[in-house]
Amino acid sequence: MPKPNVFVTRRLPEPSLTRLLEAVEAEVWPEELPPDRETLLAKTVERDGLLCLLTDQIDAEVIDAAGPQLKVISNCAVGVDNVDLAAATQRGIPVGNTPGILTETTADFAFALLMSAARRVVEGDRYVRAGKWQTWGLTTLLGEDIHGATLGIIGYGRIGQAMARRAAGFEMRVLVFDPNFNGVDDEVLKTDLTALLSESDFISLHTPLNKDTHHLIGASELAQMKPSAILINTARGPVVDPDALYTALKEGQIARAALDVTEPEPVPADHPLLTLDNLIIAPHIASASQATRGKMAAMAVDNLLAGLAGEQLPNCVNPQVYSG
Ligand code: DGY
Repeated sequence: MPKPNVFVTRRLPEPSLTRLLEAVEAEVWPEELPPDRETLLAKTVERDGLLCLLTDQIDAEVIDAAGPQLKVISNCAVGVDNVDLAAATQRGIPVGNTPGILTETTADFAFALLMSAARRVVEGDRYVRAGKWQTWGLTTLLGEDIHGATLGIIGYGRIGQAMARRAAGFEMRVLVFDPNFNGVDDEVLKTDLTALLSESDFISLHTPLNKDTHHLIGASELAQMKPSAILINTARGPVVDPDALYTALKEGQIARAALDVTEPEPVPADHPLLTLDNLIIAPHIASASQATRGKMAAMAVDNLLAGLAGEQLPNCVNPQVYSG
C-alpha cells in the first residue's frame, strides 16, 4: 500500500523530520522563506496531508487545490488564524494545532519584553554601543518599577494565566479582561476593558486573532492608557493598530511598547515604528526555545499522522468534523 503523500511547508527540527519522512511520502519545502502563493497552490495538489506554519495562508483555494482526498491540515503553531477553519470544517477536514507546550516559553518571553521595556534594557545597550556612556548618571535612562505595579492582562487563556503566575513573583496587582474566561482565580481581579486600560502600568495581550480582536487596541484604547503605560504584544500583530500605536508612542500618549508580533509580519525595514526609541520589536520568537520548538514539531507530526490514519487528531481545533 503506498504511503500517504504530504506537503510540509518548512524543514522541521529533528527528530520530528526523520520520524515524518519514515512514515509518509513527504515533499519538504527546503527554503527559509515560505513558498509563495502560486508555489503553495501547486505543491498542495493531490496531497493527503498538509503540515504548515503560521506564515502559510491556508484558505479555501489551497484546500480545494489539494483535492477531495485531503485528510488533515496540521498547523505547527497554537494560533490558527492563518487557516480558514470554516472552509476546512465545511469540507470535513480536521485542523491540528500545538496548544499547551508553548505556554510557559511564550509567557517567559512576554515577561522578558515587559522587563526590558520597563527598565529600558535595549535602549541602554544602544546607548553604550553608541559611545554615549560617560558617567554614572543619577537620571540616566530612568525606567519604571515592575514590582508592585499593576499588570493588565487581555486574554486570560493558558498564556495569560502563565503571565499572571510570573507577575505574582513580582507582587504585582493583576487585572484581567477576558469575556470568555468563566473560571475562578482569586489571585487576579476580573474587570472591564476600560478599567483595565486606565489602571494598568503594563498591558499584555494574550488573545487569539479573530474578528473581535482585530485592532482591539486602537487610538481610542491607547488614549485611555496612562502616559507611563507600557504595552506588550506577544499575541498576534493585528490585535494592535500599528498606525495608532506609532502616534501614541511618538506623541508620548503611552511611555513604551514591546512587540513580538507586528502587522504586517515581517515589519518592513522602513516602517515608521522602527524610528522610535521607545519601542522594542522582536521577530515573533516568543516560543523560540530549542525545547519548545522541538515539542511543537513533534505535536504537529502527531496530528498529521493521526489524521492520515483516519484517527482523531490529539489536538484538533475543529472537532465538529467528527460529529457529522
Ligand atoms: C503560535 O504558535 O501561534 C505562536 O505564535 C508561535 O510562536
